[in-house]
Amino acid sequence: MSGNTHNDLYIVGVGPGDPELMTVKAMRLLTDADTLVVPKGRENGESTALNIVKSLVPIEDKEIVEIYFPMHKIYKNGTTSDEVTLAWKQAATTILEKMSSGKVVFPTLGDPSLYSTGFYVHATLLEIHPDIQIKIIPGITAMANCSAATATPLCLGGELLSVVPATFNDERLAQVLETFDTIVLMKVYRVMDRIVGLLERLGLLGSAVLVEKSGQPDERIFTDMRQAAREDLHYFSTIIVRKEKMVNRQ
Ligand SMILES: C[S@@+](CC[C@H](N)C(=O)[O-])C[C@H]1O[C@@H](n2cnc3c(N)ncnc32)[C@H](O)[C@@H]1O
Repeated sequence: MSGNTHNDLYIVGVGPGDPELMTVKAMRLLTDADTLVVPKGRENGESTALNIVKSLVPIEDKEIVEIYFPMHKIYKNGTTSDEVTLAWKQAATTILEKMSSGKVVFPTLGDPSLYSTGFYVHATLLEIHPDIQIKIIPGITAMANCSAATATPLCLGGELLSVVPATFNDERLAQVLETFDTIVLMKVYRVMDRIVGLLERLGLLGSAVLVEKSGQPDERIFTDMRQAAREDLHYFSTIIVRKEKMVNRQ
């Protein structure tokens, strides 16, 4: 227990989908938890984070609280729709209640530092209760797994990396694509036609690789972005654009 009446909370990255990519620390904390508060992106859908956890960690003796976080736009200063703000507050209130009686873990896909609900919940919790102890446990990011699956380094030597949501407008995306050596485009699934046009205009179509559901049993890898754009891609799709080729690759 910390110096107040609450147990600590752990926000734990559980990796991109392959349960074996959970860290030993994540496994220990998840196994010891009394309550798992899990995010899900669809009201009637399943929590991907929970699915990853439960394939290796027995959850029968744990309380599972699923919280729906609508996938609405969140701006740079953290402003978003009332519905999303409400979901953060609901999560924070539930977590605080559970923390007073047991160990609570909030598992999150990939790593908490990268476009994760975990940090919004973290901020909301501290607004309500500045004294509670929250520990953040890193996980393997989806982009690290996409890099590994395609043998595409993200950065070597003096290269610069940028990670951006593909939902940025064309002008902003073009600026990033022109400036950096490697660009990771997240959330590409609904904007593929626009991305293909942009990559073509900038002469980068041949430098891109897309990984869908990396680390999951039905992972797919596309080196032809036009073909990828014709597919009904899953939300878990990431493009890596790497301008420098590896010596041993064509
Ligand atoms: C809200 S962000 C979460 C990122 C996560 N926190 C991380 O560390 O990778 C969701 C985006 O991450 C990427 N993503 C997450 N899981 C993925 C996977 N298994 N394969 C490919 N991309 C994935 C996709 O670009 C997706 O739109």
